[in-house]
Amino acid sequence: MSDPVVNPVLGLNGAGRLADQLGRSPVGMLPSSIDDTQASLLALGYVPERSLATVVYLALKLQRPVLLEGEPGTGKTEIAKTLAAMLGRPLIRLQCHEGLDLAGAAYEWNYARQMMEIRLAEAGGQGGSGHAADRDALAAELFSARFLIKRALLQAIDPANPVAPVLLIDELDRADEPFEAFLLEVLSDFQITIPEFGTVKAKEPPIVVLTSNRTREIHDAVKRRCLYHWVDFPTVKRELQILEARLPQVGRELAREIVAFIQGLRKLDLYKLPGIAETLEWSRALLELDAMVLDPELVQQTLGVLLKYQDDIQRVHGSEAARLLEEARVAARSLQDAARA
Ligand SMILES: Nc1ncnc2c1ncn2[C@@H]1O[C@H](COP(=O)(O)OP(=O)(O)O)[C@@H](O)[C@H]1O
Ligand SMILES: [Mg+2]
Repeated sequence: MSDPVVNPVLGLNGAGRLADQLGRSPVGMLPSSIDDTQASLLALGYVPERSLATVVYLALKLQRPVLLEGEPGTGKTEIAKTLAAMLGRPLIRLQCHEGLDLAGAAYEWNYARQMMEIRLAEAGGQGGSGHAADRDALAAELFSARFLIKRALLQAIDPANPVAPVLLIDELDRADEPFEAFLLEVLSDFQITIPEFGTVKAKEPPIVVLTSNRTREIHDAVKRRCLYHWVDFPTVKRELQILEARLPQVGRELAREIVAFIQGLRKLDLYKLPGIAETLEWSRALLELDAMVLDPELVQQTLGVLLKYQDDIQRVHGSEAARLLEEARVAARSLQDAARA
């Protein structure tokens, strides 16, 4: 978690500047415009599309959750992490998976401790003594905050939070469909009703980011409560910016070739297209191998960093890789010419 005091963005941020002038802590201040949002994300190495910066700005202003859908490795999870750093808020992450239920996502009663409490009460003659008043008191005590185990969703709306956190509900499409129903109360009212305990409501709404890799459709009821954005593969220009922001040690020429090659790969009919994660990973591998430019052998040998399915590797192996590389070189050269012009 980034320390809000040394957060480099807040100096750039209009709201942060105002807070500084007022001598207040800038923690929790929101960006003042779409430009400000874009610049603040950029200062932390996240290169957003204008449309993503707009959705994020609006979500913060309107206090609405944002649902990001897109191919894996396109920067959905990263935006939540960057937002937390940018705003100086804690990040609470709920990684969704098959079988995820209320107990795993929101809360659970600590049965072991409850049992122990009952035994102790019995041993002390309390509860076991048969007095109805004692039994009622014990029952009320057993369902108090002391015995409540708070999972991500409940932690995110805990009214005791000194500052509203960023809540990342990651890869919602991995959870079973019925799980989405649990989310509705959290997403619309920032509250959770626990039958034995009552309703827990956030003092200040958390900033909620949901992501989906779209292995299935997210239910309309969830979508209706969110602002929606489809995170697309980046354009050549943005992918070059991302590479420069994340791995400035990659030479310009190599960077152009890498991006052009990957953009070419994405035009093929592959089972799994490489995302930005793969672009960065491949660049790191090429740096490790001291590559200055791409050559056919290097590409062949490192395809496994980019493509993770044997069918895809076979499809690209050999002459197809050479053809793609030739095209990438031409594209990289015209990029260079464009940059010079
Ligand atoms: N717009 C971006 N700017 C900078 N880095 C990015 C961007 N998009 C993705 N990345 C990087 O790509 C990698 C994959 O992103 P991630 O958020 O994990 O993808 P997703 O959650 O969509 O599968 C991360 O290392 C992230 O830092
Ligand atoms: Mg992710």
